[in-house]
Amino acid sequence: MLVSGKELFQAAKQGGYAVGAFNVNNMEIVQAILEAAEEEKSPVFLQASQGAIKYAGIEYIVALARTAAEKAKVPVALNLDHGTSFTQVVQCIRHGFTAVMIDGSKYPFEENIAITQKVIEIAHPCGVSVEAELGKIGGTEDDITVSDAEAAFTDPQEAAEFVERTKVDALAIAIGTAHGVYKGEPKLDFARLEKIRNAVDIPLVLHGASGVPEDAIRKAVPLGICKINIDTELRQAFTKGVQQVVLNNPKEYDPRKLLGPAREEMKQVVKAKMRLFGCAGRA
Ligand code: G3H
Ligand code: ZN
Repeated sequence: MLVSGKELFQAAKQGGYAVGAFNVNNMEIVQAILEAAEEEKSPVFLQASQGAIKYAGIEYIVALARTAAEKAKVPVALNLDHGTSFTQVVQCIRHGFTAVMIDGSKYPFEENIAITQKVIEIAHPCGVSVEAELGKIGGTEDDITVSDAEAAFTDPQEAAEFVERTKVDALAIAIGTAHGVYKGEPKLDFARLEKIRNAVDIPLVLHGASGVPEDAIRKAVPLGICKINIDTELRQAFTKGVQQVVLNNPKEYDPRKLLGPAREEMKQVVKAKMRLFGCAGRA
């Protein structure tokens, strides 16, 4: 069933676990995530970035997510990932997204607050949850790139003021993760995470979680992380699945023979993440 992001956030916070949020671009990715969620009895966020919406078309993204959610017994929310404009948010809500992220992290503090408030004013009456970002998460996620020099950790005091003034449902924070493939091992600032958790009483979101060591994830979840975003590891699994077929049988030309194994590779990644995040068995 398709539910509001609010429902998943609240249950995760109460239960002390994090819900996996996986990026989708096509049918096989949606199917891999939902098969994993059903087998693991896990709630799940399907999320589409602006790049995914541009690639697949918003109607296809919503139809795929809706079909998958309606067939499923587990609760599913459809989230706009890193929305950067009010127009994009309105378009997603009108098409049936049940959660949105407004990423105003490139703006100064006051402007980030202003755009988040504006989004909440329209999203909340529609029953749609809102995630915002404070601090700047490094790396590249589709069309958004933040260089190492621009990346900035979230300030706990600013977080308290931001949450108080916006009444946002969830906050994405910068504590050392980055989008894309890591060059070295990421070092998370747990002391900062603890300070942020003590300063605000809402679910926190960890972006750029592909490649983050399992121990770091296990440490972050009890410190208030309620949603964990995974994109890169799904892309890698997809490509691995396709490459294996092509290498073993270069003459293969049936797309289903390429995409089926890719779907299976992604499903195994999603299942493992659900167990690691603690959302397995929560639906
Ligand atoms: O918003 C999406 C995520 O933060 C994904 O990050 O590609 O590093 O897994 P990732
Ligand atoms: Zn992200």
